Amino acid sequence: MIRMRDKPYIILGLVIFLGLLAFPFWYNVGKASAAPEPSLDTPAIRQLSQKQCVEARSYMRKSHMQLLNDWRNWVVRDGDRIYVAENGKKYEISLQNSCLQCHSNKAQFCDQCHNYVGVAPDCWTCHIEPEENK
Ligand code: HEC
Ligand code: HEC
Ligand code: HEC
Repeated sequence: MIRMRDKPYIILGLVIFLGLLAFPFWYNVGKASAAPEPSLDTPAIRQLSQKQCVEARSYMRKSHMQLLNDWRNWVVRDGDRIYVAENGKKYEISLQNSCLQCHSNKAQFCDQCHNYVGVAPDCWTCHIEPEENK
């Protein structure tokens, strides 16, 4: 039996319980709006028949810094300017003529993620920063 004077506590309890149930929902709403959303909408990417990067997306996401590092070493140390991808496709090894040819929206792409994680790779004192082309 519920006594009259317990009622407020029961209601309070219910409110807290429902709030906890809804917590993952509210928590994720906040996160989803804060997470970076790099844009893949560029003229060059629109024209690709297969929307592919030089390597698989998951690999690019995790390892593009390493790949760029390798690319630089291959050019600067070995004079090698052709990259053969996992799938056999060939690309010019070039930050400007490959990566930024497709990703011609640095501010909406590279910077979206980098601002979010707080890295600011300084490549643009030497390499030409692309004109934003979306
Ligand atoms: C101090 C100047 C300087 C800075 C800073 C710099 N680079 Fe370079 N980079 C060069 C030079 C010079 C070459 C050789 C260019 C060539 O032979 O075509 C090169 C070549 C490269 C290449 C291969 C060829 C090409 O044209 O893309 C890549 C990839 C590259 N750098 C990536 C990077 C990235 C990524 C950063 C930022 C983390 C960076 N570089 C910062 C000077 C610099
Ligand atoms: C031929 C055009 C093209 C070139 C060249 C290219 N990309 Fe991409 N990139 C894409 C496309 C298209 C995607 C999305 C792939 C998918 O959805 O599977 C992508 C995805 C990515 C992603 C993952 C983004 C995300 O939100 O998951 C990163 C990081 C990336 N590229 C960086 C680079 C870098 C760095 C280079 C140069 C080493 C490069 N790309 C060269 C077209 C290109
Ligand atoms: C999907 C998100 C994402 C996109 C898109 C992206 N990056 Fe990154 N990038 C990262 C993260 C995260 C790091 C930091 C990795 C770390 O510090 O462990 C990083 C680091 C780097 C670094 C090394 C910087 C350092 O100080 O160590 C370079 C160079 C770089 N990115 C170049 C690029 C370029 C060029 C583009 C656009 C063509 C690009 N990235 C697009 C997420 C992204």
